[in-house]
Amino acid sequence: MATLVLCLSCTKRETSADVPPSHPEHGHHGHGHGAELNEHGYKGHTFEDPQAWTERFESPERAAWQRPDEVIASLAVAADAKIADLGAGTGYFAVRFAAAAPQGQVYAVDIEPKMVEWLAQRATDEGHANLEAVLGEADEPKLPEPVDLVFMCNVFHHLAQPQAYFQAVAKQLRPGARVIIVDFRKDAPEHAPGPPQAMRMSPEQISEHMQAAGFRLARNDLELLEYQYVLEFVPA
Ligand SMILES: C[S@@+](CC[C@H](N)C(=O)[O-])C[C@H]1O[C@@H](n2cnc3c(N)ncnc32)[C@H](O)[C@@H]1O
Repeated sequence: MATLVLCLSCTKRETSADVPPSHPEHGHHGHGHGAELNEHGYKGHTFEDPQAWTERFESPERAAWQRPDEVIASLAVAADAKIADLGAGTGYFAVRFAAAAPQGQVYAVDIEPKMVEWLAQRATDEGHANLEAVLGEADEPKLPEPVDLVFMCNVFHHLAQPQAYFQAVAKQLRPGARVIIVDFRKDAPEHAPGPPQAMRMSPEQISEHMQAAGFRLARNDLELLEYQYVLEFVPA
């Protein structure tokens, strides 16, 4: 029988009739089509319709809890910073980073080709000359050059191989670089936005992957956002 799952980070319903349980904690959760299960039994959505995702990602309802401007302000981004927004989606954060670093460069990376096309068009339409859309790979962001700041919001739980991914990221960092990861708290209420509770990853789980990839946790902010943590990692 098909199982209906709902990821409110993406707020999309999908069926998962063919997804076997791969972890007792996560039971029958499946999440998308065609992507591989990671160790959390969690598959990726497909993000093939940027217009539809825009309505969800860029909604006022999301802004109320995602607080994108506050998140970016909290990072005190240098005006000439080079920034990578990994899993940039429709460019929700990337366009704000482009505005925050007018003399810098923002790479908005996604693995969904239609999202990347959308991002490139958005950069042109909105006049962000310092925003470049980049087609990444599942295990490698394919950044054109090293960056000062790596940002990833609501994406880590989609990664099939987080350690390999961040080992590749580690090779593309400038001196003093930091990695910011925003994702959903496991202790947020089940009705809260985000993936089903069992699919969420704790800061400790993310830290384990990051340590294996060569990073250490420098900051764990549980105060800024209602449903998410903001983690800062630096090379170990
Ligand atoms: C839930 S959306 C988040 C979008 C954006 N970060 C935001 O906060 O609005 C997840 C995005 O990550 C992308 N994604 C998933 N796995 C990825 C990977 N390995 N590398 C880059 N992007 C990935 C998806 O295509 C999708 O656009």
